[in-house]
Amino acid sequence: MINFEFYNPARIIFGKDTESQAGKQISKFGKRVLLHYGGGSVKANGVYDKVVKSLKEEGLFFVELSGVVPNPRLSLVREGIELCKKNNLDFVLAVGGGSVIDSAKAIAAGVRYSGDVWELYMDNSKLAGLTEALPVGVVLTIPAAGSESSTASVITNEEGWLKRAINTEVVIPKFAVLNPESSYTLPAYQTACGASDIFAHLMERYFTQEPNVDFTDRLIEANMRTILNNAPLALKNPNDYNVRAEIMWAGAVAHNNLLNTGRIGDWGSHDIEHEISGAYDIAHGAGLSIVFPAWMKYVYKQNVDKFIQFAMRVFNVDFSFDDKEKIVFEMIERLEAWYVRMGLPIRLSDVNIGSERIREMADKCMVGRTHVGNFQKLKADDIYEIYKLAL
Ligand code: NZQ
Ligand code: ZN
Repeated sequence: MINFEFYNPARIIFGKDTESQAGKQISKFGKRVLLHYGGGSVKANGVYDKVVKSLKEEGLFFVELSGVVPNPRLSLVREGIELCKKNNLDFVLAVGGGSVIDSAKAIAAGVRYSGDVWELYMDNSKLAGLTEALPVGVVLTIPAAGSESSTASVITNEEGWLKRAINTEVVIPKFAVLNPESSYTLPAYQTACGASDIFAHLMERYFTQEPNVDFTDRLIEANMRTILNNAPLALKNPNDYNVRAEIMWAGAVAHNNLLNTGRIGDWGSHDIEHEISGAYDIAHGAGLSIVFPAWMKYVYKQNVDKFIQFAMRVFNVDFSFDDKEKIVFEMIERLEAWYVRMGLPIRLSDVNIGSERIREMADKCMVGRTHVGNFQKLKADDIYEIYKLAL
């Protein structure tokens, strides 16, 4: 286990009717709020009304900026930064999923950054110049990205369709309201994409080359089994509070950095996926169910025993298989079967993507980087091979 420092100040307010607490929480940090949301699901399911009521009860001034799309765009972030400056806003409230939260974090960072906000995403060394951001709060409506208590924000620049991330403590939300009831209205495909993303956050952390990380291995395994069991149940009974609650809490813990304490995660599959959702605008979780099986096939030899442990403990692959490769490939088949059962794609062809742009995507993935991934450090040619395995 390597040395670590764990810090996560996001207050989690979990349970039924918790949206009513948003206003009070905001009052601790600010008075003039940017209310940020997406394409209207929050109005259709009543979350917006509950939040606005809570803001009004606290006497908070607010300006709205809606229209965040999945794979959130830099142009709206820029608009948000201007709106905050013009109206002297001192708090950003994200009501929605990972895309809205990431857009809110980018706005919050951009208001306080002296340069252009995109610089931070293209050159992460510039984050040293970002010492503070406007405080951000979250009312979460989809368990998926884990952005509600993460250090990350992922934004897509429409000029060139580059999708890039920042990771910095200054954008960790001050609080996140997690009401599992708000996820009842999710379309089945979004529920599945969310579960795929949560599961991917767990795998990215699990596949480390660091030895002696048994405690965090076991915590991750517990979380993985929770998602594997509950996600199909959420598809069957969308209004089952207990099932939705398991997924929502597991999704936050999957990505709040507790589970990567003492270890170095991989994250190659995320970078490889971001090129797909950046170029083709598909859901991030769907891109991950395509990339992960291919990534596993390409890298498992780097530490086959870690894959065997995963196969046995998470997918119950029978110990009696004599051949290590057989165990790994049996596990990959079971993972793919779970994705398929959830209605997710497992090949690029499942989402009508051919080989035309895979070379370009592999090269683009290297822009501003020397490699991706840590389990095996991958360069453009490796990524190209992984895309080929995913065709
Ligand atoms: O726009 P609206 O109308 O709200 O609809 C959204 C959107 O179309 C809909 N939705 C959300 N909650 C709903 C709902 N529909 C009905 N009922 C509800 N309760 O779902 C669609 C997807 O929303 P989005 O916010 O895009 O989903 P998600 O949370 O999966 O976020 C994906 C983004 O997060 C990034 C991804 O790359 C992607 O851009 N990620 C962010 C991370 C982070 N900041 O830590 C880490 C992740 O690995 C990920 O990369
Ligand atoms: Zn993700």
